[in-house]
Amino acid sequence: MEIIKNVKGTHDIFGGESNSYDYVESIMKSIAELYAYNGVRPPVLEYSQVFSRGVGESSDIVRKEMYTFPDKGGRDLTLRPEFTAGIMRLVVQNKLYATNELPLKLYYNGPVFRYERPQLGRYRQFNQFGVESIGNNSAMNDVEVIALAYTILCSLGLEDVTIKLNTLGDDESRNNYRKALKEFFANHIENMCEDCKSRYELNPLRILDCKVPEDQEIVKDAPSIGNYLTEASKLRFEDVQDALSALHIPYEIDESLVRGLDYYSETVFEFHYKSKTGQDYGAVGAGGHYGKLMMELGGPELPGVGFSFGIERIVSVLKDDGLLVDKNNELDCYIMPLGENERLFAEEVAVLLRNSGGYRVDMCFDKTKVGNMFKRASNKGAKFAVIVGEEEAKNDSVVLKNLATQEQETVKLENIIDKLDEFFDSQEEETQK
Ligand code: HAM
Repeated sequence: MEIIKNVKGTHDIFGGESNSYDYVESIMKSIAELYAYNGVRPPVLEYSQVFSRGVGESSDIVRKEMYTFPDKGGRDLTLRPEFTAGIMRLVVQNKLYATNELPLKLYYNGPVFRYERPQLGRYRQFNQFGVESIGNNSAMNDVEVIALAYTILCSLGLEDVTIKLNTLGDDESRNNYRKALKEFFANHIENMCEDCKSRYELNPLRILDCKVPEDQEIVKDAPSIGNYLTEASKLRFEDVQDALSALHIPYEIDESLVRGLDYYSETVFEFHYKSKTGQDYGAVGAGGHYGKLMMELGGPELPGVGFSFGIERIVSVLKDDGLLVDKNNELDCYIMPLGENERLFAEEVAVLLRNSGGYRVDMCFDKTKVGNMFKRASNKGAKFAVIVGEEEAKNDSVVLKNLATQEQETVKLENIIDKLDEFFDSQEEETQK
């Protein structure tokens, strides 16, 4: 029968790679917790309006990339294409802004879905980790969020991360800028792509993201936001830059950075990293400040700021740079019962080593030659073979064999954890030297 393959744009994560995802996500969570963020888990399915109102009708995500369908009850649903709008729906619906000290600091992690053209670093189902800090408008809140993301990337071992930084200003700045863009593109729009024609009507800022080479030539000469900022937005952006410099967080101003989601205002940023192989997977993370998102979703007018990392892209650059350890093959002990009568005792030993010793232990379940058992132990990367024969079972003991040195000794069950602790502690000391 023909085998069934995975859906285009999705990918299976298995073996050592699954451990890499766990490792990356656990570093992200532990650092977010240091910054006093708490976890939330919004559903994958939301009413489509959460995103059409939240992310915005003029964004590519809403116009072209959402997995939207009617469910059997005729509800208009969407698989989340990003977290931020869904988080805001959760906060508004549960009135978290009223029952907590602000800013409300939330982190999240899970799959998101976008119907994009699959290519290097671009999937249709991928994983994000991100944070949102909601309910405080100070520039320092933006800076803390950037500092958190930067700390995470440094902790993962990524040196030379480029932070691209820009401001989209307040409402007045963006209205002035939109007007200027409309005037500029008025003479060109006839010759631009169909997408740009509708962007021109819906939100001319989106034209700046157009990927059509001929249109990009025109976009190059478009006015930049810097000249249309109000005094307040200029000062706010200066505060962000001063604080980043004081914290020794490197950044580059990129006036062409407008971000593809409609909810942004004031500070926006992206994190870029080129792995040593030279591969460019695209931004490894991005985010910014948003002023009206909560209001668009029926809540009060509270601002927020956040970022999301693309876990696939981060795992790819870490892998390219040799910054991931494949833990899949690491086993502390492989238990080898030599006969049928020793199986129960062997299982008791395994339970003792796992539950009281905290060791990673696997066991041979089937009847096979001792030579085969040793082969399996070594294929599984075991440090020790724990051999259980008739004599050992009778005497509440095992033979402990170090598979690297081939040294072995008979050890009483009551001493086995101490023996293993002694060995692993001395190994740890060696590696720390
Ligand atoms: P975004 O720029 O759309 O922002 O996505 C954030 C990150 O997700 C990107 O930098 C990239 O690493 C990853 N990513 C995006 N699309 C794909 C894809 N097709 N395949 C693999 N990875 C991808 C947001 O999602 C905003 N919600 C960020 C945010 C949070 N803004 C404020 N708070």
